[in-house]
Amino acid sequence: MPASSEVSTAVALDAHDADIDRLFGSGGPLGPAVGGYRPRQSQTEMAKAVARAIAGQTTLMAEAGTGTGKTFAYLVPALLWGGKVIVSTGTKNLQDQLFLRDIPTVRQALGAPVSVALLKGRANYVCHFHLERTLQNGRLTSRDDVGHLREISRFTKTTMSGDKAELSKVPENALIWNLVTSTRDTCLGAECQYYQDCFVMKARKEAQQADVVVVNHHLFFADVALKDTGVAELLPSANTIIFDEAHQLPDTATLFFGQTVSTSQVLELCRDVLAEGLSHARDGAEWAKVVTPVERAARDLRLAFPQDIVRLSVNQIAPSSPFFPALEKLKDEFHAMLGVLEKQAERAETLEQCRTRALELEAQLERWSAGAVGTPAAKQDAKGDAVESVLWVEAFSSSLQLHQTPLSIAPIFNKQREGVPRSWIFTSATLAVKNDFNHFAAQMGLWDEPAHSWPSPFNYEQQGLLYVPTNLPQPNSSEYTDAVLDAALPVIEAAGGRAFLLCTTIRAVKHAAERLRAEFEQRKLPFPLLVQGEAGRTELLDRFRAAGNAVLIGSQSFWEGVDVRGDALSLVIIDKLPFAPPDDPVLAARIAVMEKKGLNGFMHHQLPEAIINLKQGAGRLIRDGSDRGVLMICDPRLISKPYGKRIWQSLPPFKRTRELPTVQAFRGAGTGSRSFLSDFGGS
Ligand SMILES: Nc1ncnc2c1ncn2[C@@H]1O[C@H](COP(=O)(O)OP(=O)(O)OP(=O)(O)O)[C@@H](O)[C@H]1O
Ligand code: SF4
Ligand SMILES: [Mg+2]
Repeated sequence: MPASSEVSTAVALDAHDADIDRLFGSGGPLGPAVGGYRPRQSQTEMAKAVARAIAGQTTLMAEAGTGTGKTFAYLVPALLWGGKVIVSTGTKNLQDQLFLRDIPTVRQALGAPVSVALLKGRANYVCHFHLERTLQNGRLTSRDDVGHLREISRFTKTTMSGDKAELSKVPENALIWNLVTSTRDTCLGAECQYYQDCFVMKARKEAQQADVVVVNHHLFFADVALKDTGVAELLPSANTIIFDEAHQLPDTATLFFGQTVSTSQVLELCRDVLAEGLSHARDGAEWAKVVTPVERAARDLRLAFPQDIVRLSVNQIAPSSPFFPALEKLKDEFHAMLGVLEKQAERAETLEQCRTRALELEAQLERWSAGAVGTPAAKQDAKGDAVESVLWVEAFSSSLQLHQTPLSIAPIFNKQREGVPRSWIFTSATLAVKNDFNHFAAQMGLWDEPAHSWPSPFNYEQQGLLYVPTNLPQPNSSEYTDAVLDAALPVIEAAGGRAFLLCTTIRAVKHAAERLRAEFEQRKLPFPLLVQGEAGRTELLDRFRAAGNAVLIGSQSFWEGVDVRGDALSLVIIDKLPFAPPDDPVLAARIAVMEKKGLNGFMHHQLPEAIINLKQGAGRLIRDGSDRGVLMICDPRLISKPYGKRIWQSLPPFKRTRELPTVQAFRGAGTGSRSFLSDFGGS
């Protein structure tokens, strides 16, 4: 490339630097819009890098520590210069926070005339067709269901969006929602008599017209894979795609680029075939006799595994297992039902729909069982390239799922990025391990793409203390959780509550809750105990912030995205290093592939994953320039194992100690001269 054009490109890409300096400067428009605003260099630099990626239609991996202010760093350039933007976040909570709080703040501060839409998955919107059907055939048994149905029917007449989040009277997980929402399988699409008023279609249309659309990773990948709720339609016109909490993408994408077929899908289809057959083609077949053998075969397939919950890869199932003949039987019976549907489908639109579903399910069952002959299966993707995948089964109390999961999503995701030139931004506090982005980049197929990590604005050495207690037993021993609690109690007491106890398993959450409840009572400690599952996540956090001396016990969902600034949280306790369970069939297959290539699966996969999780958990502690607190990691492997050093060196540079008195003397959050200990009633 001639030197002059290099220069002109460079000038064009830097064109927004001066604007960004002004916008993020102390006299800029963000100041009045954000309480306690102070220019943060990492934030300003990240915003410039995002602006350059947008201008050059390139990809950027942007890492900056928890609490840096990444949201504004990408929103400002995106709203000003991003064209049509899709922002995807980790959870529905974060989606709402962006849509309701962060985007309006930035839009107003900048005076940017952009329209914004929120797009959720199909299951979030009431479906007129299914609501009507449920109201008419009303086979509801519980009184709750009847009441909820009445509420939903009333709500549907007044709501603009049809989003179930607006109807707080009916709990989000109430079973009735399944009967009044659609799935991709059961939506009639353009044939539907309610098409004009359909909430799903309306949300899609709004998303299509908006400048900025907020989605979540599940929806994004579900849609790219299934082309269902409208993200796939948005993609061609999007100029800028931003993934926040991007460290979650490899897992989410793997979930959706694979395929799953379950016995409950078969049973649901049988239920619909029976109902539709009886109402539209009663004389066409003996419908009960058509579906019963299929239902029986589906149940028998589940019963091939006597255990409650099972996750097994296909090559872990004994060749003599009843599973294989049961699968053949199900395929045969299913095929016979399909034969009847082929003949009767023309008698009603709904029967035709059952036929299409049956065809698809049969194809999935066939594909899975054909692959089950040898694993990992070599599968062909749409362009004929081989994709290695693992076939495995997962049994729940009353259903069995057959999964086919790709071992690498890199080739599939890379294809998504081909085509229209646009900017792809991946941001998170935890994309790299010691400044090395290879692990993330390789998983996502982002080889050789630019990546940058900006330092945290916080002074961890002064603001935080890492405490690793001594004398803890091995984490797999039966007394481990009790030992953690023994070590944690004096620290919780010294901190005056104000603690998160983050556990790696639900079982540990339950045990810790029981034991701490008893201990608090016995020791007359006034700390409110909040336990995951006893109330919704948002409510627990609100109560935690309001109490000012609470102890919250949670598992994975509290490790990420949770923000409690200031005094209310001054102690984060982590029970164990968060390694993925070793019996996971997908993980086992991935490691096997790595080891075939001569790589150590533990060092190249499990350890980096655990470090990322741990950094997210630790990141709950310091959320502001004036926050102070203790991070307590109980796992003795942090010290005893050779890899332990690599783990703690990846954490922010906290001051470190193994002495309880040092912890008890640590000065608490925002308390000036008071110590941790004296925060608690001076005792
Ligand atoms: N320059 C600033 N000065 C003061 N406060 C700021 C500034 N920029 C952002 N904030 C505030 O800091 C908080 C953290 O910002 P944000 O949520 O964007 O952090 P983050 O980098 O995304 O962290 P995480 O990785 O934990 O999500 C927000 O409440 C935000 O309003
Ligand atoms: S188009 Fe689909 S989602 Fe919309 S009302 Fe009809 S069946 Fe329901
Ligand atoms: Mg964030």
